[in-house]
Amino acid sequence: MKINKATLTFGVIGLCATLSSFQKSLVESHDSVVVSNAIMNDEIPADVKVILDQKCTSCHGEAKQKGGLRLDSMESILKGGESGPAVEFGNAKSILLTSIHSPLESDEHMPPASKPQLTEEEISTINKWICGDSLAK
Ligand code: HEC
Repeated sequence: MKINKATLTFGVIGLCATLSSFQKSLVESHDSVVVSNAIMNDEIPADVKVILDQKCTSCHGEAKQKGGLRLDSMESILKGGESGPAVEFGNAKSILLTSIHSPLESDEHMPPASKPQLTEEEISTINKWICGDSLAK
């Protein structure tokens, strides 16, 4: 089967539904997910940090905060930008995740189409960071 962006996006959301019921109950009680994960993930994992630093923080870092968002610390990622928290662990609809899976021609697609894009491996690393092993390839 040929995998295109649409099936990938569907796949992410579909796989999100395969989270255990325990994880789902955490996701539903939104605040506790953010709090408990803020404690468990107070640092950006090294493999994710490299990706964000290479492809995102030029616009979402110390110098510029496009969309009001900084992606250079766990605290700022959880705080998020104009649209709210960029990441909610266990939630495949986290804005950071939906932005990288949006079609290239969409305004929401990140990084912007004119910039170096994430590789499949980088996307997979970010999927796994946010959604856990249910999204690992
Ligand atoms: C060349 C600059 C640039 C780069 C690089 C970039 N972005 Fe963005 N990003 C923007 C702009 C501009 C907006 C605001 C879009 C808007 O408000 O309509 C934005 C908005 C966002 C938002 C929504 C913020 C909110 O709360 O509304 C997210 C999430 C996001 N970017 C994630 C990323 C990720 C993840 C990367 C790296 C993979 C990335 N961006 C790389 C320019 C960039």
